[in-house]
Order: sequence, then C-alpha cells, then structure tokens
Amino acid sequence: MELKLALIGFGVVGRGFTDLIVRKKDYLASKYGLNVKLVGICDIKWGSVINTSGLDPLKALTAVWAGKSLEEVFEGIKGARALEFIELSDADVVVEMTWTNIETGEPGLSHIRKALNLGKHVITTNKGPIVLAYRELTDLARSKGVKLLFSGTVMSGTPSIRTLIRGLAGCYVNEIAGILNGTTNYILTKMEDGLTFEEALRDAQLKGYAEADPSMDVDAWDPAIKIAILANIAFDADLKPKDVVRKGIRGIRLEDIKDALRRGKRIKLVARAWRDSSGIKAKVTPEEVDINSFFGQVSGTTNAVMYSTDSLGDVYLIGRGAGGEEAGQAVLADLIELHSLLEERIR
Ligand code: HSE
Repeated sequence: MELKLALIGFGVVGRGFTDLIVRKKDYLASKYGLNVKLVGICDIKWGSVINTSGLDPLKALTAVWAGKSLEEVFEGIKGARALEFIELSDADVVVEMTWTNIETGEPGLSHIRKALNLGKHVITTNKGPIVLAYRELTDLARSKGVKLLFSGTVMSGTPSIRTLIRGLAGCYVNEIAGILNGTTNYILTKMEDGLTFEEALRDAQLKGYAEADPSMDVDAWDPAIKIAILANIAFDADLKPKDVVRKGIRGIRLEDIKDALRRGKRIKLVARAWRDSSGIKAKVTPEEVDINSFFGQVSGTTNAVMYSTDSLGDVYLIGRGAGGEEAGQAVLADLIELHSLLEERIR
C-alpha cells in the first residue's frame, strides 16, 4: 500500500526520518509492501512546499544540506503555513515533528487537532501535545476513525511506549523507573571523564541531543514530561509536567560525581512513577545508584526503563534515547504499524 505523508518540521528529527525512508525504500517495499510518498514538507526555517505528485526525499535532504530553502528546489504549492499546509496537502498521514512547548503544547497541538479533525492519521514525536492533551487527542482520533501514534515521545526509537501498550498488554503495572533523558545522562557520563558541566552540555548540543532550550533537559522538564506520558498510559492517569516532583542536574559538581565513584556509586537522573493508596505519584531527581546496578550501567545518551508488573515481575528495556536517526526510527516504526493496521482493514 502507498501512504502519502506530509511532514511538519524538518529539523533533526524530520531529516532523520527522511534519511531512513531514503535508505530503506526497497526494504520497506519488499518486507512490508509499504511505499512512502512524500507529498509535502513544512518547516519554519526551510520553507513549505506541497506537491501531490510527490517530493523526492533525497532532494529535500540535499537542499537543506546545501543551505537551500525547499521552496527554491521544488515545484508545487509554496509558502503555506502549517494549518493551511495540512488542509492542502492531500496526505493520509501528517507527521508532526515540531519543537516541544510544555506550557501550551503549541503549535504542535493545533497541528495535531487540525489533522485529526480532517480525518488524517497523525504520527508525532512532539511530547508537549501528548503530555498535555493525551486523552483529548486519543478520543478525537477514535471519534474520527484515525490513528494517533507517538512512540517517539519517550526514549525515541527504543520502544518504551510500544512495549508498555502492546508488549505488556494485560499486565498490571505498579511502578515505572527510568533514565529517560539522553542529554543529562550524557553530561553526567562525560563529567565522570573529567569534562565540566558546560563542556559536556555544549558537546550534547553540537551532537543534536539537547532540546532547543537546554533548560528542558538540565532542569529535568524533558524526563518529567516523559515519565508523565508513561504514567498516563500505564495508570490511566492525567499527570501534567507540573505534577511531577522535579530536580535537575545543575547543582551537581565534579566533586560530587568523583566522591560517588569512590564509594562505588554513580549519580543518575532517575524518573519514577508509582501508585499507592493515596494516588499516583511521579518524580525526577538525581539519585546515587550502585555502579553495577541496571541504571548504574546506563551511560551516554542511552536510556533505560523498568516496568514493575504483576504477571512478569520487573521488565527492563535499554537503548538509544536521543538523536535524529533514533527519533526517525520511532516515526518509521509507527508508520509500519499504521500501514499494517490499514492493510488489515481492507483485507
Ligand atoms: N533532549 C532529549 C534527550 C531528546 O536528551 O533525551 C530526546 O527526547
């Protein structure tokens, strides 16, 4: 089956995904029978273009690598702003990959609402709309008979959400714990090697792991959002980022890290969510963990999560949690899931 895609956001994630559909074109067709047709790209920096005959994804990447606007290199409808772009694009699937705004979820929230209201499937890596309006958006998608997939919002391509929803279906989850932010884990790992906090942060920014506003990472907003997303799914909760008790890593000094190491410990930014008789709780705080423990062995931008369940006990998942290719992989996995659901519908 061919799926027509419109991309909103052509930054690190948008380009990571586009690179994958270029490289895996034949594999997607032969293994899944999936043909991806890119019918539009809309980006605040690189311009907006729609062409229902299809845009060559490699040409889009090459243009941006050369510093050229997409409007310079493609024919079609040009200059449409995101909401109009969604209307005009004729896409089956809108892929929303703009930045995260945790106050309002905008502009991503409006993009997703608009696409769902128009009966388009949505795949997003944007955490803001999902943490702020998870129920509203999933209800809207259901009422419109379309799918909303967002596996890239937590641990990027490492399937933390898919494991929770599908893999652990039927399990009662009591507790979730995770290292859910690649940037801070990278900073803490590099500080063990002797880099200062500022040097390690700059390095993470250069490598494209950090959020546009690095305070989202170092002040633990990003993992607070992620643990809230996981808790809302697992516990049918409605946690918002501000409900998560939160302490970032700004106050951690090299001496603290070295002192912990001397005692066989590592400092990690650990996110936890649990339920007890008084309700659902979540927090993200630096913790000292044993070097040889599961979390003690998670280094660099690697993320990890532990789901504590009734039928399976503790289930662990570890993998890369940040980066363009990693987030692009999450979008690709969502697209393949959507494609197989749609194929079943028409069978
Ligand atoms: N800034 C985020 C991180 C990106 O470092 O984990 C992936 O969500």
